[in-house]
Amino acid sequence: MSAATYSQPEIDALWRTLRERRDMRHFLPDPLPDGLLERLVEAAHLAPSVGFMQPWRFIRITEPTLRAQIHTQVEAERRATAAALPSRNDEFLQVKIEGIRDCAEVLVAALMPQREKHLIGRRTLPEMDIASVGCAIQNMWLAARAEGIGLGWVSFFEPDALAALLGLPPGARPLAILCIGQVEAFYPRPMFADAGWGRRLPLAEVLFENRWPEGAGGTPTAY
Ligand SMILES: Cc1cc2nc3c(=O)[nH]c(=O)nc-3n(C[C@H](O)[C@H](O)[C@H](O)COP(=O)(O)O)c2cc1C
Repeated sequence: MSAATYSQPEIDALWRTLRERRDMRHFLPDPLPDGLLERLVEAAHLAPSVGFMQPWRFIRITEPTLRAQIHTQVEAERRATAAALPSRNDEFLQVKIEGIRDCAEVLVAALMPQREKHLIGRRTLPEMDIASVGCAIQNMWLAARAEGIGLGWVSFFEPDALAALLGLPPGARPLAILCIGQVEAFYPRPMFADAGWGRRLPLAEVLFENRWPEGAGGTPTAY
């Protein structure tokens, strides 16, 4: 494959996708266009993975009762999280953190079982399997944004309970509930930022040189 750079419009399109991708929690009821879901899974499957282990598995939820049970689990964890916060508990409950009941498609992303057999790149960093699934979901997220489709990553759930609900084999672990669907508009900024739960840090606060600067690196607002 040629090493020539992409054309400027292609580069601009990539940057536009990076800047305009949003975590979405409001969806229209319309179904996805034909073939879109398969393309999104293909985008995920093109992701890099530690030792090329491809540890991601996706479960498409098509039974309405199962979707409702997943929503119930998320709602329980949302309330438990609010109760566990050191402050602003009620305020947190006002923030929308998922669109499970409204989106066109729900996918659960899970780590495959028997991951202990994959040692390459994981002997000292076993969590690189989780990092790889994160890469896959990010691929899907960007592809969805470029195609005008919203995606929301939901991590408010108790993994053992969700694993049991979906019949995951021993060792497999759900990592994300993905809400995917048509949206009226993409949020201009992260919803959490607009709700006062964080801000994008300046680059200077995340890029260091040679050594970790004394006193640097903590989050200014930890919840
Ligand atoms: C690992 C991971 C888990 C997340 N879990 C949730 C979640 O459960 N609910 C939610 O509303 N957003 C969730 N998000 C989305 C973040 O809130 C969002 O990425 C962040 O606020 C920045 O907004 P943006 O993605 O629109 O730029 C998650 C994101 C990541 C990467």
